[in-house]
Amino acid sequence: MLADVVLGLQYGDEAKGKVTHYLTKFKHYTHVLRFNGGCNAGHTIYHNGKKFVTHHIPAGVFYGIKSIIGPGCVVSPKHFFKEIEQLKAGGIDVEGKIFIAENTHVIMEEHMAEEASESKIGTTKRGNGPAYRDKYNRTGVRASEIPSLKPYLINLYEEFHGDTCVNILCEGAQGFGLDIDWGDYPFVTSSHCGLGGVFLNGVSPHWIRDVWGVAKMYETYVGSKSFEPDQAVFQSLRDVGEEYGATTGRPRQCNWMNLDFLQRNARFNSVSKLVINKVDVLRELGQWKLYHKNELLEFENEAQMCEYISGVLNKVEVFFSDDKNSI
Ligand code: IMP
Ligand code: MG
Repeated sequence: MLADVVLGLQYGDEAKGKVTHYLTKFKHYTHVLRFNGGCNAGHTIYHNGKKFVTHHIPAGVFYGIKSIIGPGCVVSPKHFFKEIEQLKAGGIDVEGKIFIAENTHVIMEEHMAEEASESKIGTTKRGNGPAYRDKYNRTGVRASEIPSLKPYLINLYEEFHGDTCVNILCEGAQGFGLDIDWGDYPFVTSSHCGLGGVFLNGVSPHWIRDVWGVAKMYETYVGSKSFEPDQAVFQSLRDVGEEYGATTGRPRQCNWMNLDFLQRNARFNSVSKLVINKVDVLRELGQWKLYHKNELLEFENEAQMCEYISGVLNKVEVFFSDDKNSI
C-alpha cells in the first residue's frame, strides 16, 4: 500500500494539475483521489495537445486510472455531470473510471444560490462554504442520498483496505495558504488543503511515500484581501503569467515569492519533493526577486535565485519548471 500526495504550498493555482498529470503518466497508480475542496477548484491540464479544465474530477481519468472524489470534498451534481460531458466531448474515456465516496457531502443548488452575491472574502461563488457549513452543522446531504449519483458511489473502506494492493495519488485542491486552519482567516477556503486533509479520506498515514509540494516562482492570490503591492511590475507579471482565474476568470493579485512562507508550508506538510513552476514567467519579465526574512532580495540571474531557494529549502528536493514545458 502506497500513497503519494500532491498539494499546493501557496494560494492555489500553483499548477498542481500539471504535476498530477505528469505523475499519473509515469508512476503506475491504481487510484487518484481528490481529498479536499469542490468545484471552486480549477485544474488546467494539457492532454495530447488539448486543453482541459477540471473542477471536481481527479486528473487520473486522463490515463484511465480510477479517479475518486473523497469525503474531504464537496460535490455539485450539476457541475460533476457537466464535467463528465466535457471530458467525453474531448475524447476522454471516463466509463467506469469516476467515483464519489458514499459519504462525500453534496453542494446543493441552495448552497450556490446563497453565495451568488457573496463579496466579503471574495469566494468563487460555487457554494463551497455553505456546503461545508451544513456538513458540520449536521444538516447536509451526502452523495449516497442523491439518486443520480448512485452509479458513481464507492465505499472507500472496501476499496482501500481490502486484499488488493493500492497505490494512490492524492490530489489536493487550492493551497496551504488558503487552508481553513492555517491560512489567513477569514481569507481562506473551507477545507483542509494540507497533508492532514489526506487522512480524512481513508488513506493510512503509513502508506505515504512522497509529498510533492507545488509552488510558483512568484505568488498569486484571488480574493478580496489586499495582497498585491501597488507597482506596475505586477500588472506585467499578471499578463506575462496569464494570471486570470481558471474557474472565475478573475485577475489574480501578484507578488514576489515569500520564501519563509514556502518553507513554513513545506515543513507543515512534510514535503519531500517540491516543484516550482513558471520560472519562464520571471525570465520573460527579466526580474529575479523574492522575500526572505522580511527583506526583498534581488538576484542577478535565474541560476542565482534557484540556487538560493534550493539552499534555504535544503531538506527538500527542489525541481524548477517552466510553464510551457513538462517537469
Ligand atoms: P471558496 O473556496 O470559493 O469559498 O473561496 C475562498 C477563497 O479561496 C477565495 O479567496 C477564493 O478565491 C479562493 N479559492 C478557492 N478555490 C481556489 C482555487 O482553486 N484557486 C485559487 N483560489 C481559490
Ligand atoms: Mg486553479
